[in-house]
Amino acid sequence: MYEQIKETTKFLRDIGIVKPELGIVLGTGLGGIVKMIEIEKKIAYHDIPNFPVSTVTGHSGTFIYGTLEGKSVVAMQGRFHYYEGWEMQEVTFPIRIMKFLGIDKILVSNASGGVNPAFEVGDIMVITDHINMMPEHPLRGENEERFGPRFVDMHEPYSWKMIELMRAIARETDIKIQEGVYLALQGPTFETPAEYRMVKLMGADAVGMSTVPEVIVAKHMGMECFGLSVITDLGIEGKIEEVSHEAVQEAAKASEEKISTLVKEFVSRL
Ligand code: HPA
Repeated sequence: MYEQIKETTKFLRDIGIVKPELGIVLGTGLGGIVKMIEIEKKIAYHDIPNFPVSTVTGHSGTFIYGTLEGKSVVAMQGRFHYYEGWEMQEVTFPIRIMKFLGIDKILVSNASGGVNPAFEVGDIMVITDHINMMPEHPLRGENEERFGPRFVDMHEPYSWKMIELMRAIARETDIKIQEGVYLALQGPTFETPAEYRMVKLMGADAVGMSTVPEVIVAKHMGMECFGLSVITDLGIEGKIEEVSHEAVQEAAKASEEKISTLVKEFVSRL
């Protein structure tokens, strides 16, 4: 995999992606953040050597390079999910690429189901920690020392400094944020009422099908991570309703303006 990563990184450097400072992973329905980026390069995943190609609706699969609030960024419009059939190494491949392009900080976003009774649909949750309940681990197997250590410290999976920065921004912009623990399940089914209850009992505030593998791999390579989750539906006793991918996309879209403001401020102050 090391050689593939070198090859892909070289390809991206050669087309002009030279000095990005921040990597952004755009989750379901959050692609609108791209509108704030002054785009310099835009390349479809299927045109990037060794890149997996995303298929789910709402994930258009484009790698973007440009400027956001004066910072040079790389954004993934569309990510790879384990439930699509990708191996964990494929799911997390773009994160390794980001690191090899010179990025040390990533901002990941997703849509999730809220299990904290204080949450409402449309809330934005700052991810303070996560619980990995995916059936596979992206670091299983022989460790590649050129990426990072065998045993990875996870005492600060999401940067405290970045969480603190977002708290300040939320106060100043008067945008309500929630904070909580994100638990990752493989999907693609949404949770049964009993599973939502389990998620809550395990100590999480929200549940989704992504993000955790990417953050694990980012931590493996010593990157600083920040995560935002839009609560698009509720897995709370008495409030559980039918949920669909379309409803999730729609709910995420409704929070787009709020999240865009937060992200814009956040990036400008990084
Ligand atoms: N569960 C899992 N993934 C999700 C959910 C959910 O309720 N909402 C959005 N993504």
